[in-house]
Amino acid sequence: MKKILVTGSNGLLGQKVIELLVHRKNFEVIAASYSDNRIHAQEGYSFEFLDITNEAETSYIFNKYKPEVVIHTAAFTEVARCEENKDEAWKVNVDGTVNVINGANKTAAHVIYLSTDFVFDGLNGPYREDDPLNPINHYGLTKLEGEKAVRKTARQWSILRTCLLYGVNPHMVRPNFLLWVKHSLEEGERIRVNNDQWRTPTLVDDLAFTCIQVAEKGQAGLYHVSGSEYLSVLDFAYGIAAQFGLDKEYITPVASGLLHEYGKRPMKTGFHIDKAVKDLFFHPHTLEEGIKRVGEQIKEMETLDD
Ligand SMILES: NC(=O)c1ccc[n+]([C@@H]2O[C@H](COP(=O)([O-])OP(=O)(O)OC[C@H]3O[C@@H](n4cnc5c(N)ncnc54)[C@H](OP(=O)(O)O)[C@@H]3O)[C@@H](O)[C@H]2O)c1
Repeated sequence: MKKILVTGSNGLLGQKVIELLVHRKNFEVIAASYSDNRIHAQEGYSFEFLDITNEAETSYIFNKYKPEVVIHTAAFTEVARCEENKDEAWKVNVDGTVNVINGANKTAAHVIYLSTDFVFDGLNGPYREDDPLNPINHYGLTKLEGEKAVRKTARQWSILRTCLLYGVNPHMVRPNFLLWVKHSLEEGERIRVNNDQWRTPTLVDDLAFTCIQVAEKGQAGLYHVSGSEYLSVLDFAYGIAAQFGLDKEYITPVASGLLHEYGKRPMKTGFHIDKAVKDLFFHPHTLEEGIKRVGEQIKEMETLDD
């Protein structure tokens, strides 16, 4: 049995990782998050409150459980809020990551750090792992600093960069792009979607599965882990509308500049994923399969609620 700690267990990725882990017999699972536990599964894991910005608290959790591997998903992830609260974002994404690394180093635990396409400036996507880094917003900057800390100080590490996650969990507090588009169109609301940003959207289930595989096999190094289809965010929105039989006329294409979002967004990111395919045997669902799968999961969750 390998002891595994998952930080940010209430998040989109964290919940998915725990839901997969509780069905595995080869892991003892510790879920840790800042707020009240939102994981749907009732058993098969322990839950701990953990504020990663609190050094003593983080150290205590590592001492208590002595995990052999940590999947570090916890982060301050909202781009606009990171711009507005720069110190707080730094505290969570950089100082918090350092606390997690220090805790992990006590037992030489393998740190699996989740990073982002926003470490790139978006001028030349899709990107490979060794392309030049140049974040253009504070979120990207803090996540890159987290990467640097991992590379420099973690005794065993993997960095998995991902891009535009989509998916669903039973208890969510923040919708992702897919859920926002679906919900808005179902309500007959008109939405404005940028037509100049390009991504490789990632089904969160695929990423969660790969995080666990890396935890199991211990592959070290830097990997791009995303969907394989490179498309505009607008086409992603159209694909969501088509899959759910919703009217795409309610989607208005606009240039990013007209959305007046706080904080710059890189235009063309997205990833080449050949390295993850070759070394991690990563085989993401197609976008059509992924969106369909989320639709099925939503239906299952609605039946649970009935
Ligand atoms: N979502 C994307 O499109 C995307 C794209 C690229 C990279 N990533 C990266 O992938 C990872 C997972 O993303 P996600 O979408 O799952 O994020 P998310 O849904 O925003 O979840 C992040 C979790 O971090 C926890 N957290 C925040 N501050 C914390 C603190 N001080 N101490 C402990 N926990 C704290 C929150 O816990 P509570 O809910 O308990 O408060 C939250 O549930 C992140 O590292 C992110 O940078 C995400």
